[in-house]
Amino acid sequence: MVLRNREIFRAGLHFLKNRIFSIFYLEYERRLEIEILNSEIPHHIAVIMDGNRRYAGQLGKTRSFGHALGAEVTERVIEWCYEIGVKQLTLYAFSTENFQRSEEEVDGLFNLINEKFLKIYSDPRTHENEIQVRVIGDRSKLPAFLNESIEKIEKATENYRKFHLNVAIAYGGRQDIIQAVRDIAGCISTGKLSLEEVDENLISKHLYPAPGVSVPNVDLILRTGGDERVSNFLPWQANGSECATYFCAPFWPEFRKIDLLRSIRVYQARKAEKKQEQSYRILKVVNILEIGNQGEKREDLGKLQQVKKQGVS
Ligand code: FPP
Ligand code: MG
Repeated sequence: MVLRNREIFRAGLHFLKNRIFSIFYLEYERRLEIEILNSEIPHHIAVIMDGNRRYAGQLGKTRSFGHALGAEVTERVIEWCYEIGVKQLTLYAFSTENFQRSEEEVDGLFNLINEKFLKIYSDPRTHENEIQVRVIGDRSKLPAFLNESIEKIEKATENYRKFHLNVAIAYGGRQDIIQAVRDIAGCISTGKLSLEEVDENLISKHLYPAPGVSVPNVDLILRTGGDERVSNFLPWQANGSECATYFCAPFWPEFRKIDLLRSIRVYQARKAEKKQEQSYRILKVVNILEIGNQGEKREDLGKLQQVKKQGVS
């Protein structure tokens, strides 16, 4: 009897601890959200969802269990990003390197991705919220059933513009650039394009998903699972645009909304630092000019002093 009472007491204590923790957690999440909504939200977030198998391993479960839990988190992340006001979300679901995994795991992942596409397709929120779904990657390497679902969801959402969900499957950044270069070279050899027309804009247009409908520059790359690498993900779209990076320790199935909010806070801090740096540079130039000109070029100085005032305000 005493033993039984002790068990009930322990269970009650455990429940109370969890309850208090979740109240604090929700309050922290609420405050963090208010804080980040007061500043600029990144337009385009790219996510490397890593750590599904390690998470499952910790629990003594199978790899497919880890991937299934990870995919549930993916669904929540899409919702959070939409609610916060992100406009483009690109998810790294399957890299070209992932083909080196066992046949069983690769098949399992393709089935899981297919299942999620069908779910997103029949979810009324996809259509109410006007979410456009696109796939980037080498589709020739995908099984027919997955390509069918991709075509179905892309067709059904092609005119939606409120939110863009880009899913990278059989994707490699360098391979994307190679296919764009081949495509452009083909256009040049048939006379559709001239060499002089090849510039940044044209190359961007020939990257995945298809000529003319490229994925825009990335503002923030986020990776879970503890590794601090960007693994050949969107090199063209991320490198030229000085995007922010956020690496965090939780495995993908453990990823919470506060992790997403924290990553956005890092993006906002980088933006503020960049602005400050710019103001500082302008101030430096103005000071040099003031000393060097000593009354000459008053017109230029007037303009620069205006910039100086704006820069430090
Ligand atoms: C990386 O963890 C995860 C993947 C290769 C698969 C990610 C795919 C999903 C979560 C499904 C996506 C769903 C939609 C809706 C597109 P890992 O296998 O490398 O794990 P590890 O780092 O612990 O080995
Ligand atoms: Mg991994």
